[in-house]
Amino acid sequence: MFTCIPFALVVLFIQFSYSTKFDCYPDEKYVYLFECPHVYNSGMSRTLMREYDMDTWLPFQRICCPPPGNRLPSPEICVRRSRTYRIVGGLDAKPNEYPWLAMLLYLNKLTLEITPSCTGSLINNRYVLTSAHCVDGFLSHLSLKRVRLGEHNITSDPGYNRVCRDQNNHCALPNLEIGFERIIVHGEYKGISEWKTEYDIALVRLKMPVRYRTGILPICIPKHGLFAESQFEIAGWGKTNEFSQFSKVLKHGLIRKRKIGRCASRFPHLRLSNSLQICAGGDSAVDTCDGDSGSPLMVTMPNGSVYLAGITSFGGENCGQIGSPAVYTRTSAFLPWINEALNI
Ligand SMILES: *[C@@H]1O[C@H](CO)[C@@H](O)[C@H](O)[C@H]1NC(C)=O
Ligand SMILES: *[C@@H]1O[C@H](CO)[C@@H](O)[C@H](O)[C@H]1NC(C)=O
Repeated sequence: MFTCIPFALVVLFIQFSYSTKFDCYPDEKYVYLFECPHVYNSGMSRTLMREYDMDTWLPFQRICCPPPGNRLPSPEICVRRSRTYRIVGGLDAKPNEYPWLAMLLYLNKLTLEITPSCTGSLINNRYVLTSAHCVDGFLSHLSLKRVRLGEHNITSDPGYNRVCRDQNNHCALPNLEIGFERIIVHGEYKGISEWKTEYDIALVRLKMPVRYRTGILPICIPKHGLFAESQFEIAGWGKTNEFSQFSKVLKHGLIRKRKIGRCASRFPHLRLSNSLQICAGGDSAVDTCDGDSGSPLMVTMPNGSVYLAGITSFGGENCGQIGSPAVYTRTSAFLPWINEALNI
């Protein structure tokens, strides 16, 4: 009897430490590192080890292995977490309100500084969807270096804290900076400087699969004809007006859908397509602006699933002017292209 009690305690202790240390998310499997090839083969790096809670790089240690990122997540994963949102034009977003927002960081070849210049959306644990003109060399002095996920306030950069992994802790989550492996630009894209503006869409394949958490989650891609909304949400760190600096804190707002003709008359020298593009905005001072290229045009369904309706493509010279709508790439038209690209 006396020997039994310590034994039971040891078993309890092991059970307890096991379940708290390795709580994998529902879509992850708890396996040996070598049994998770898409993580194992992405190469040892400090970011990767931190992301997977590894102290050393040993093939015979267990990790939470996420899916390989060759398909889109189910709508249950793209559900809006903060329910108490209210949209007011151009105000600060709440931390983690748009956990799919990816800040694209570029090397400025003239100043040798790393600078944000476009935005993208995380669509699964491996891919960021953005506009083609953000990554095809249109910004000639800038070359894409990294993607930053989980960003909110650029001026505050909390250090990494393991406790933050626990979603119930209220400490500020660190952002995650991650390199990329490949850029996939749509084959029909001809450059925004030409009159043909459609197909402004590209995927960035990250160096390693990321793990979802409070500040890092994907957005859903809509099927064609899923919704008939009249308003969209926008969010980004772009300039808050044409003269200002880039915003330090993520801003968001609500804009109205427009007939494509509204954009066509605004940009008469360009060819626009209603099946491939969306025209929106232009009725208030809420707008996408410089630095918002590639950022999401979003719709939240009544059940909370959030969809990426469009990708910011281009607008007029002056942001937020009355009567100056902007053009967005219609994501649902590219669902087959996305699914195919994810499987290459
Ligand atoms: C929410 O509604 C959309 C559209 O009706 C549907 O496709 C999606 O699966 C739903 N999401 C969840 C989590 O049930
Ligand atoms: C952003 O972070 C800075 C530095 O920590 C802080 O002073 C500022 O109040 C923050 N802004 C917001 C809106 O949270």
